[in-house]
Order: sequence, then C-alpha cells, then structure tokens
Amino acid sequence: MELKQEKRWRCTICGYVHIGPAPPEKCPLCGAGPEAFELLPADPGARRPKPLHTLSYGLYIVASERGTEINGQCANTVFQITSEPAQIAIGIGTDRYTHQFISESGLFSIGVLAEDGIELAKHFGFKSGRDLDKFADVEYRLSDLGLPLLTRALAIFQCRVQGRLECGTHTLFLGEVLSSEVQRDGKPLTYAEYLRRK
Ligand SMILES: Cc1cc2nc3c(=O)[nH]c(=O)nc-3n(C[C@H](O)[C@H](O)[C@H](O)COP(=O)(O)O)c2cc1C
Repeated sequence: MELKQEKRWRCTICGYVHIGPAPPEKCPLCGAGPEAFELLPADPGARRPKPLHTLSYGLYIVASERGTEINGQCANTVFQITSEPAQIAIGIGTDRYTHQFISESGLFSIGVLAEDGIELAKHFGFKSGRDLDKFADVEYRLSDLGLPLLTRALAIFQCRVQGRLECGTHTLFLGEVLSSEVQRDGKPLTYAEYLRRK
C-alpha cells in the first residue's frame, strides 16, 4: 500500500519546516506570513524525521536588563552544562534585542515555562522588544540584580555570563547560576508539546 505523503513547507526566512496541507498563517519561529513559505519537493525519505529534529527541548523566557530597561524573549536552546557549580548555556540570535541586553549587563534570567505557558512563549517569541514593552502586560517582579522574574514560570534562574562562543547567527552564552527557585507545581512545557498545541 502506498502511504500518502504530507506536504512540507519551509520558511525561507528562518528555515522552519511546517507539515500540513497549507503553509501556516505565521511562522512560529520568526513570525513571517504564509507568503514566506515554499513547498518542499516530495522526498521519499521525508517520513523519517531529520536527525536534528529528533533532539528535544524545553521552552523558556530568557530576560535581561540594561540600566532601567528590561527585555526578554522565548528560547528553546537552554540547557544545563554542569551541576557543581550549576552552569546553564543559552543560544541567543545575534539580532535579538535581548542579545544586546545580555551582552551589556552580563546577566540573564530564565523562566521555565509550564504547560500552560504557550501564550507566554508566543508573546515573547513573535515580537521584539524593539517595537513594544513585552513586560507591560505580564506579571513579573524585579530581582535585586534588576532582572525580571516571571510570576507564571515554573522555576526561575538568575545567571551571570562567564563565557561566550560566537556561532555564526547565534551566540552561546555560558551562565553561572547565581540563584534558582521553584515557584509552583506543574509540568515543564516541551518544545514538542508547544509544536503540537500551538
Ligand atoms: C518556540 C520558540 C523558540 C525560540 N527559540 C529561540 C532560541 O532558542 N534562541 C533565539 O535566539 N531565538 C529563539 N526564538 C525567537 C525569539 O524568541 C524571537 O526572535 C523574539 O522575538 C526575540 O525578541 P527580542 O528581539 O525582543 O529579543 C524562539 C521563538 C519561538 C516562538
């Protein structure tokens, strides 16, 4: 029996691949409209996921400060490097407004999104702080370091940058964990769950 192959659409701006009968209204990674998507040719191996797509991630709000200003963005590239001492690495696009804040202050906070955090992921992931204050209508508190800590996050971390690696379009910041706290009960949101429900 011949299996029907689903159409695959690639965002020509960021490379995100959408599977479905039509391109999405909005690219979940860069926010581009359906006109930015191209139909990929049918691929006999397409039913098998690409090796990179088998990697799993959580979803986080990475935020930082710059004097009296704050800003934050959604990120899936957040991962523990060591536990003693606790160190976390984040991958941040060099064109993100948040990148400027982290580079200047050398500090960042991480809010771990829970399964009810999909709207927060979209709010912080599709708009830039260059155009609006993303914290204006979101509950948060400012830490003693001046970092915004999301009230709805499952857990929060505050980190100081102690190393960085330029990776072309992105910078890998290595952060020493200065403080961490679990704020409430719940299950962490995974990137796969976000893609399923978005
Ligand atoms: C689900 C999701 C995951 C994302 N992951 C990352 C990431 O790991 N690193 C990154 O730099 N941008 C990531 N982005 C894109 C940024 O969140 C997005 O470009 C944001 O608008 C940048 O905001 P800023 O310009 O205010 O910093 C992601 C977006 C979404 C929706």
